[in-house]
Amino acid sequence: MFVMSIWGTSLSLSSRSLAIALVLCLTLLYFSYSFNACLLASISRSLQQSNLRNLLSLTSTPRNESSSISSSSSSNDSATPAATPLANTTGSTGSDSTSNVPAAVGIASSSDGSPKYQLLRQPGLRPSRHLPDTLIIGVKKSGTRALLEFIRLHPDVRAAGSEVHFFDRHYQRGLRWYRHHMPYTIEGQITMEKTPSYFVTKEVPQRVYHMNTATKLLIVVRDPVTRAISDYTQAASKKADMKRFEQLAFVNGSYSVVDTNWGPVKIGVYSRYLERWLLYFPLSQLLFISGERLIMDPAYEIGRVQDFLGLKRVVTEKHFYFNATKGFPCLFKSEARSTPHCLGKTKGRNHPHIDPSAIERLREFYRPFNNKFYQLTGINFAWA
Ligand code: A3P
Repeated sequence: MFVMSIWGTSLSLSSRSLAIALVLCLTLLYFSYSFNACLLASISRSLQQSNLRNLLSLTSTPRNESSSISSSSSSNDSATPAATPLANTTGSTGSDSTSNVPAAVGIASSSDGSPKYQLLRQPGLRPSRHLPDTLIIGVKKSGTRALLEFIRLHPDVRAAGSEVHFFDRHYQRGLRWYRHHMPYTIEGQITMEKTPSYFVTKEVPQRVYHMNTATKLLIVVRDPVTRAISDYTQAASKKADMKRFEQLAFVNGSYSVVDTNWGPVKIGVYSRYLERWLLYFPLSQLLFISGERLIMDPAYEIGRVQDFLGLKRVVTEKHFYFNATKGFPCLFKSEARSTPHCLGKTKGRNHPHIDPSAIERLREFYRPFNNKFYQLTGINFAWA
């Protein structure tokens, strides 16, 4: 009886300790599972973040891009500002997705200083090349490079660095060729290209229309007389024995007949070219940027461009400073360079002295065309 009771007790004791051991084991298993799960989640999170950081820190541009921003060796161009920020004085495309993306798929390196803005794009991080949504079509020597360099400060804008000349010179190569010249973009980024000769080339409006009827068009315009002188200055810089401006702008050496066949004069008849574009695109798809204001108040004009493109206003007056030596607005930093710099030496040249009578005659010549242009655009650019 006694033995039986001891045996009974030890049996109940051992089953209790068995139960306790079982509970302990299960608890241990549960904790070890939770710990491992946490560990795995944290490792995968930090891997993702490090990948993203690598991508964001890439500042070099894709292989087809070359920036025209000057190197710091130019004394004018590199003149560091007395760091005075520019005061606001006035107020059916396909894609070429690839897993073999070069290391230099440059997402603008937080040019607005807000990597957070880019982190929001994490789900769309699969870069591919697209045909442009937006084109800077002209006008030559009106500030097209400045516009491109300023707007591409925006993290949502990616641009081909050099002029591709697809619609005027390389159209026969086809859209696939064109797309290959575009930079890589991620979801939500705008692809942009600038070729100023598009504005004046007859076939281009129809060709752009055939690529994409919704293409947005940016057009920088400047007083056509100053533009002609700028155009001439550029040509003269490449040809030592160039005739004087006055000899080329007029027929027979007198100032009575303007030579409308001379390129620098001809391009300034903006209304003529605009009429061709308006055959294909509504005015609402065109944005006119004042070349004069782009110099006086770049932030204002870039603000308008950002609104037009449906972009958050990221590029502001904080990005610009006025370089008194160069006499133009310059950038604190850009996609290509993180130090203050101006556009290259070929932008913002000194113009030769032109006989004031010749200038007056050209103003008279352009007046009716300018008025027509104001009428077509609904904007009075107030060129003299
Ligand atoms: P000039 O060199 O005759 O002064 P584009 O880029 O279309 O060729 O236009 C060149 C013109 O852009 C220059 O003509 C200059 O007046 C103008 N421009 C506008 N903003 C500028 C800037 N921030 N720096 C240099 N040039 C600028």
